Amino acid sequence: MYRQSGESSIPLSNVNYQQAPGGQNTPAFGSVHEKNYASPKPKRRVWPWIVAAIVAVIIILGAVLGGVLGSRAANDNDNSKSNAAQDGAAQTGSGVASAATRTKGSGNLAIVPTATDQFGNPMYPSSTGSARISSPTTVANSSLSCTADDAGSLSLTSPKTSHPLLIATENKWACLPGLIQSDSYLSYWNDTVFRNASRFYDMTPTNYSIDGGLTGSGVLDVAREVQLRIKHWAYAYKLSNDTKWVDRTWQELVVAAGNDTNQYFGEQGDNWNSGHFLDVAEFTEAFAIAYDWMFDAWTADQRNAIAWSIINLGLQYGLNAYTDTSVGYRWWTTVRGNWNCVCNKGLTMGALAIINEYPNSPARELLTYTVDNANAMCAYAPSPEGTWSETPNYWYFGTYSHAEMAASLLTATGSTQGLLTTNPGVKLTSLYHMYVVGQQGIFSYGDAGPNKYTATANHLMFYGSQFDEPLYTLYQRDRGDAPDPMSILYYDPQVSGQFWDGLALDRHFDNTTDGWFSARSSWTDNDGAYIAMKAGYLQGHQTHGDLDAGTFVLDAMGHRWAGELGSGDYLSQGYFSSEAQNSPRWLYYRKRTEGQNTLMIGDEDQNVDGRPTTAFGSSNEAQDALDYKVANGSTAFFTADLTPMYNSTSSANRAIRFVNGRKQVLLRDEVTTTAAVQWRMHTNATVALSNSDRTATLTIGDETLVATLRSPSGATFGTEDAQRMPSDPTTTMYDGATVTMSEDQPNPGVTVLTIDVAAGTNTIEVLFNPQWSGWSESDFVNPPDVAIADWSVTSHN
Ligand SMILES: *[C@@H]1O[C@H](CO)[C@@H](O)[C@H](O)[C@H]1NC(C)=O
Ligand SMILES: *[C@@H]1O[C@H](CO)[C@@H](O)[C@H](O)[C@H]1NC(C)=O
Ligand SMILES: *[C@@H]1O[C@H](CO)[C@@H](O)[C@H](O)[C@H]1NC(C)=O
Ligand SMILES: *[C@@H]1O[C@H](CO)[C@@H](O)[C@H](O)[C@H]1NC(C)=O
Ligand SMILES: *[C@@H]1O[C@H](CO)[C@@H](O)[C@H](O)[C@H]1NC(C)=O
Ligand SMILES: *[C@@H]1O[C@H](CO)[C@@H](O)[C@H](O)[C@H]1NC(C)=O
Ligand SMILES: *[C@@H]1O[C@H](CO)[C@@H](O)[C@H](O)[C@H]1NC(C)=O
Ligand SMILES: *[C@@H]1O[C@H](CO)[C@@H](O)[C@H](O)[C@H]1NC(C)=O
Ligand SMILES: *[C@@H]1O[C@H](CO)[C@@H](O)[C@H](O)[C@H]1NC(C)=O
Ligand SMILES: *[C@@H]1O[C@H](CO)[C@@H](O)[C@H](O)[C@H]1NC(C)=O
Repeated sequence: MYRQSGESSIPLSNVNYQQAPGGQNTPAFGSVHEKNYASPKPKRRVWPWIVAAIVAVIIILGAVLGGVLGSRAANDNDNSKSNAAQDGAAQTGSGVASAATRTKGSGNLAIVPTATDQFGNPMYPSSTGSARISSPTTVANSSLSCTADDAGSLSLTSPKTSHPLLIATENKWACLPGLIQSDSYLSYWNDTVFRNASRFYDMTPTNYSIDGGLTGSGVLDVAREVQLRIKHWAYAYKLSNDTKWVDRTWQELVVAAGNDTNQYFGEQGDNWNSGHFLDVAEFTEAFAIAYDWMFDAWTADQRNAIAWSIINLGLQYGLNAYTDTSVGYRWWTTVRGNWNCVCNKGLTMGALAIINEYPNSPARELLTYTVDNANAMCAYAPSPEGTWSETPNYWYFGTYSHAEMAASLLTATGSTQGLLTTNPGVKLTSLYHMYVVGQQGIFSYGDAGPNKYTATANHLMFYGSQFDEPLYTLYQRDRGDAPDPMSILYYDPQVSGQFWDGLALDRHFDNTTDGWFSARSSWTDNDGAYIAMKAGYLQGHQTHGDLDAGTFVLDAMGHRWAGELGSGDYLSQGYFSSEAQNSPRWLYYRKRTEGQNTLMIGDEDQNVDGRPTTAFGSSNEAQDALDYKVANGSTAFFTADLTPMYNSTSSANRAIRFVNGRKQVLLRDEVTTTAAVQWRMHTNATVALSNSDRTATLTIGDETLVATLRSPSGATFGTEDAQRMPSDPTTTMYDGATVTMSEDQPNPGVTVLTIDVAAGTNTIEVLFNPQWSGWSESDFVNPPDVAIADWSVTSHN
C-alpha cells in the first residue's frame, strides 16, 4: 500500500512527516483552521508487523463466531415447522444440523450453512434434506424488491439533489425494513450490524496512529476504522431514527476533522495525510457517508462543518492531484491497481455528497476527472479474464472501492458511468475471487496487504445484481464476512438456488500476464482437495508480486500442505523499489524464487522479463449435489512452459494434475539445464523422510500426506529451513547506489521440502497422496509415466 513511484529514492527513515506535503497547495475553499493541540505531535512510530498479525487473528476468530450466529439467525427466521430440530442444533452453536433448510420467499427450500470456518468458508450440513437443489436464479417477487429509483433526469452533470444519494436512496431505506422482515439473511445481518454499531458506540473516538511513517502505511488503518464505524452508525440511524447514532458520529467526526484539542489528529490542513493518498480517500468517504445518510439529522452548522473537511481535507487535494502536475501524491492517477480505485472512489463519493449544497467547491470539476480516470485505470485493474492486477488480497481493496464508486454513481447520477462495462474483465473478477479462494484460504501469492476493515468481498452482491449473476450473490451471502452494512444495501433477496449447483470445479485464467488455474474436488466440502498454480509475467503487479512462476498450493483433508509465505515487512529497505531484476525487493526470501513452491535453477532468481505460457485441461465437471462426489476419471491439469524464466536453461516445463478422482496430485517437471536444479515446496507440516529418502511423510495435526519421488531415480528428498541461502546476495546495485537489505522475517514452523538434481536433462515427478480417512494402500493408484507434452484429460487413467 505504499507509493510505488517517485518515492523509491527517499529512504523511509528520512521522510519528515511534519512537513506538510504539497505545502504550496493551500486548500482554496474556506480557511485552514488554527488550533492549539494539547497533545504533542507524535514521534514517528514503526508498528511491528506482529500487531497486524494479531489483529488478523482476531478478525478470523470473529468470522467464525459470525458464522455460527448467522446460522442461528437464518434458522430463526424459518417458517417451516419441519426445521425445528436443526434450529435447536444450530442454536447451540454445535454446527450440527441434519438438513439446514428454510423456506424462502420464492417458495424454494434453501440450504444454509451451519457455521463458517476460520477462512470464512461456509460449513454446510451433510445432506440437503428436503431442500430443492437448483442453480442460481433470480425469482422476481415484488414483496422482496424495492421499487426502482427514477433515474430519468439524472446525469453526471445533473446529479440527484435530495439526500441520501450515496449507494441507497430514501426509497431503498424506506423499503429495507420490509425486506429485513421477509429475508433471514437480511435480518441476521441487520442484527449483527446493530450489535457491532453498539460495540463501536462504546469505544473512544479512533485515535490517530501512524503506521510506518506518514508515507508508509500512514493512517490508513485509522481512516478505515473511522469509516467502518460511521457506516455502522449511519446504517443504525437510518433503520432506527435514533439520534444517539448521530451524536456519536458527530463526536467521531470532530476528532477525525482534527478539531478536538485533546486528541491530536494529524497535520493541520492536511489531517488526512495527502502523502499517503489512500488515507485522504477513505476519510473522505467516511465523512461523505456521515453527511449524506444522516443529512436530515444534522443542523445547518453541522452540515457546514462536515462539508468543510470533505472539501478542504479531501476534494481540494484531489483536485490538485488532477490539475497540479508538481504534486507527488498524484502518481496513483496513472496506475491500474487498487490505489486508483480507492482514491477515485473516496473523491467521487465526497464530491457527490456535497455537490448540490456547495456548487462552488471543487466537487463538480473533480467529478469530470475521477470518473474518466477510474474508467481508464481502476476498471482495467482486472485482466480480461478477471484476474486482479496485484494479488488476490489486494483484490479486496480495489474491488470494494470500485463497487462503492459504481454504486454511488448509480444512485446519484442514474448510471454507473461505464465502470462496470468498459472492461469485460470487471464482470469476471468475481470469479477470480471465487476460484482463488481454496478450501484452506486464499491462494495468497504475492503481498497480502494491510488490515481489511471495510474491505470485504460483499460487493459480490452488488456485482451479482448489476450483472444479473445471482451466482455471485449466493456465493457471498453464506460467507463469514457477509454481515456488514454494505451487504444489506447490495443484497437482492430475490436470488434463489445454490451457488455451487452447476458451478464448474475448475477454471483457467489464461493470459501471459497472469496465467493461473484452480481446481477442486468440491465447492462445499472444506475437507476436500484444492490445487492452484500460477505462471505469469513477473512485472506489472504494482510491486506486490513475487518471483514465483510455477508456484502452487495444495489443500486436502482440512489442511494446506503446500503454502505461500505472504508479505515481507513493508518497511524493509527497498521492498517497494520496483520489479526490475536488480530491485532490492528481490533480496528478501519471501519474494525471491527460493521462497516459492517452484524450481530454482543455478541458485538464481527467475528472470523478470520472462513470459511463461500455460495450458489447461479439465474433465469439465460442475457440482450438482451438496455431497457431490467426482467420478474416478475426473481431473484437471495445468501445464506451464517456464523456459523463459531461467538462465542456464534450454527447457523447463512444469505440470500439475489430479489423478484418481481428485484424491491424488501429480506434479511433474521436465528440465534441460546447464546448472543444477532445486525443486522446492514450503509446508507447515512436519516432514519425515523414509524409503532411502524417496518418501516424505508430511504430518499436520492428525492428518498425513505421503509424497513419493517417482523420478529421477537417483534423486532424494531433502528438507531445509525456510530461510535465505548463505550465498544469497545481501546488497544490490540499484539506481546508482548500493542498497543493503533489512532483515528477513523468520518463517517459524515452515519446512522446505527439496529435491536436488544436477545439470542435464531430468524429469522430476512427485506424487502426493493425502491419507484420506477410510482409505487403504490399495485405494491409491500409481499413475503411468507420461511426458508433459502427452498430458490429456485421460492420459493418467
Ligand atoms: C460484527 O460482530 C460479529 C460478531 O457479532 C463479528 O464476528 C464481526 O467481526 C463484527 N464485524 C465487524 C466489522 O466488526
Ligand atoms: C414473495 O415473497 C414473500 C415474502 O417472503 C413470500 O411470502 C411470497 O410467497 C413470495 N411470492 C412468491 C410468488 O414466491
Ligand atoms: C434490526 O436490528 C435491530 C437490532 O437487533 C432491531 O431492533 C430492528 O428491529 C431490526 N430491524 C428490522 C427491520 O427488523
Ligand atoms: C485512544 O488513546 C487514549 C489515550 O491513550 C485511550 O484512552 C483510548 O482508549 C484510545 N482509544 C482507542 C479507540 O484506542
Ligand atoms: C424513521 O423515519 C422514517 C421517515 O420519517 C419513517 O418512514 C420510518 O418509519 C421511521 N423508522 C422507525 C424505525 O421509526
Ligand atoms: C473543524 O474546524 C474547521 C476550522 O475551524 C471548521 O471550519 C469545521 O467546521 C470544524 N469541523 C468540525 C466537524 O468540527
Ligand atoms: C492479459 O492481461 C493484460 C493485463 O490486464 C491485458 O493487458 C492483456 O490484453 C491480456 N492479454 C490477453 C492475451 O488477453
Ligand atoms: C502456514 O500456516 C499459515 C497460517 O494458516 C498460513 O498463512 C501459511 O500460508 C502456511 N504456510 C505454508 C507454507 O503453508
Ligand atoms: C540471466 O542472464 C542475463 C544475461 O546475462 C542477466 O542479465 C540476468 O540478470 C540473469 N538473470 C538472473 C535472474 O540472474
Ligand atoms: C473408483 O475408484 C475407487 C478407488 O480406486 C474404487 O474403489 C471404485 O470402485 C471406483 N469406482 C468406479 C465407478 O470405477
